[in-house]
Amino acid sequence: MNKYEITPRLPKLLHGADYNPEQWLKVPGIFEKDIEYMKKAGFNCATVGVFSWSMLEPEEGVYDFSWLDKVINTLYENGIYTILATPTGARPVWMTHKYPEVSRVERNLVRNRHGGRHNHCYTSPVYRRKTREMNTRLAERYANNPAVIMWHISNEISGQCFCPLCQAAFRKWLKKKYVTLEALNDAWYTTFWSQRYTDWEQIEPPVENGMTVMHGLNLDWNRFCTEQTVDFYREEIKPLKEINPDIPCTINLMMFHTVLDYSKFMPYLDAVSWDAYPMWHNHTDEFGNALATAFNHDWMRSYMDKPFMMMENTPSTTNWHGSCRLKAPGMLKLSSIQALAHGSNTVQYFQFRQSNGSCEKFHSAVVSHRGKDDTMIFKNVAEVGEILKKLNDDLYYTTVNARVAIIYDIENKWAIEDSKGPRNDGMHYDDIAMSHYRAFWENGVACDVIDSTKDFSKYDILIAPMLYMLKDDVAKRLAEFVKSGKTLVSTYFTGLVNENDLCYNGDLPALGLNEVFGFWEEDIDALCDHQSNEIVINSGALSGSHTSIYICDLIHPTTAEVIGRYGKDWYKGMAALTKNRFGDGEAYYFATHPDYSLLKPFYESLIDKHGIRRALNAPLPFGVTASIREGENGEVLFIENFLRDSVKVSLPEGKDYTDLLSGEILSGEIELEPLGARVLK
Ligand code: GLA
Ligand code: ZN
Repeated sequence: MNKYEITPRLPKLLHGADYNPEQWLKVPGIFEKDIEYMKKAGFNCATVGVFSWSMLEPEEGVYDFSWLDKVINTLYENGIYTILATPTGARPVWMTHKYPEVSRVERNLVRNRHGGRHNHCYTSPVYRRKTREMNTRLAERYANNPAVIMWHISNEISGQCFCPLCQAAFRKWLKKKYVTLEALNDAWYTTFWSQRYTDWEQIEPPVENGMTVMHGLNLDWNRFCTEQTVDFYREEIKPLKEINPDIPCTINLMMFHTVLDYSKFMPYLDAVSWDAYPMWHNHTDEFGNALATAFNHDWMRSYMDKPFMMMENTPSTTNWHGSCRLKAPGMLKLSSIQALAHGSNTVQYFQFRQSNGSCEKFHSAVVSHRGKDDTMIFKNVAEVGEILKKLNDDLYYTTVNARVAIIYDIENKWAIEDSKGPRNDGMHYDDIAMSHYRAFWENGVACDVIDSTKDFSKYDILIAPMLYMLKDDVAKRLAEFVKSGKTLVSTYFTGLVNENDLCYNGDLPALGLNEVFGFWEEDIDALCDHQSNEIVINSGALSGSHTSIYICDLIHPTTAEVIGRYGKDWYKGMAALTKNRFGDGEAYYFATHPDYSLLKPFYESLIDKHGIRRALNAPLPFGVTASIREGENGEVLFIENFLRDSVKVSLPEGKDYTDLLSGEILSGEIELEPLGARVLK
């Protein structure tokens, strides 16, 4: 498959929605109306079959695919392709009653009753068999139907199961990993509080009324749950791939979802897709949502380093938000263009027709209970359909290429969040990562969001905020990165523990990073929420007193140059921001978390130093960002205005641009309407 393509059967920008026609089988005329509306909205695909199990296998071994045949084939006759879901995110009631083992057991060791979704055990041989039986039938019937372009596996795979089967599998996994109990006892530091295991059978997961504070156990349990889920996924796709290996498989991931370490799925996925539900209009401005969504888009793109799918977003309201705000005029278009700007090759919605009953009946849909197309939502969706058609040829074979990356590592996050101290009031890993990312986003500089195990060599600037856990050969690769002439930026709470969350001894940050950064770290002071310190810089462009919060790391420079010093408290005058020349490169260290007023100029100088291109050659007004997609079809420039006011920006001098949406030829200063976006060539 070409690296830009989502699916070879339809190499185009995709526009579609989750579609659940099985909820409407008894209402004559609805399906025909839906097809008419989908065509009118410019759909070329629909995601069908999510949660359809009880309609496909109403009784054990009794299958009914007739309705699905009709849906898939009729959609196809009308130019709409099917992304076919496997229905395993929820199961029929009969299965729970006949096979109690399929129900998930929660952390309190109570087995769930039937209900909801994502309520199954990933280990259960019965659930795996039932999944195989269903998926084999689906593949036999549809994998060679040209209407089906992709498999959507289950839905928002998530959660953990603590049942006896999972516990036994965990112990087996541990035996394979550690071989001896001695090794496990050492890795988990079980001598503490007299927890040494003398038999594998004594090991339990971190259940609610059991051992919840053993960090090595918690980490391994999270790792096991991820691997077991990946294993389930691999079993799930086996029959699909056996029958037609060319149909891509994806799972829809979630915003900032870190119960599972998604990176472990990557070798087995053909495309990354995710579901974007920011709380637009819930705050005084759209800035925070825009930034967080951009970060998540970049995280998703970076996983496979190629275009991804926005598998779901809401046409307007999201029924599980605190207050369900309608998307204001412009917002759907802007958020769709935002996804494209970061490398999405799809805009898809949850869902096409609003449900009449149950808990999502007030989640907005392309077609609401009113059943009309003369609505703002429908018109907005149809406008996005037009936009995708206009952009297709210029955009499809392109992606975002970044020379900057932020390390956002999930195992590291698990360990930080599990840590007792230094700051139980919050270490804010996500927010810290985003505050460093923000400087690039605001400058129109592409930034990847990567796992610490990824290859660093293609980047010039690498930011490793709070890289607390140094696993594998990460420290060595960071040192090589700097040595080769690149720039590394890191912060307090870096290089303290190994992959089992056991503290390193001696010089910190560990494994030679003390030499990369040119200091040794003595201790960590944590500030209360109402307290702050400051980084005082006496010369150069960053001069001034910059407020800092959360953590104050006390460090003693050896070879590092001190750029800024603490301005307050008994450690006033000690180093707070340092720079060290290491090999041909430089390593910076923020010993405390500075205000963005320092991060912004700090990163702007690094951007300039490395000659990294800004999409618009200039810093952008607050609330505005820009990005470039490039590839076989040349370059496309995106400008997004998340302000509720119009704004002016200047295009790079001496160039004429074509607005791909309006056809206008533009140069010099241009205006963007409130919540406006431009796509230029
Ligand atoms: C998730 C699910 C959908 C639907 C939406 C509602 O993303 O995948 O099935 O429940 O949330 O926002
Ligand atoms: Zn289980």
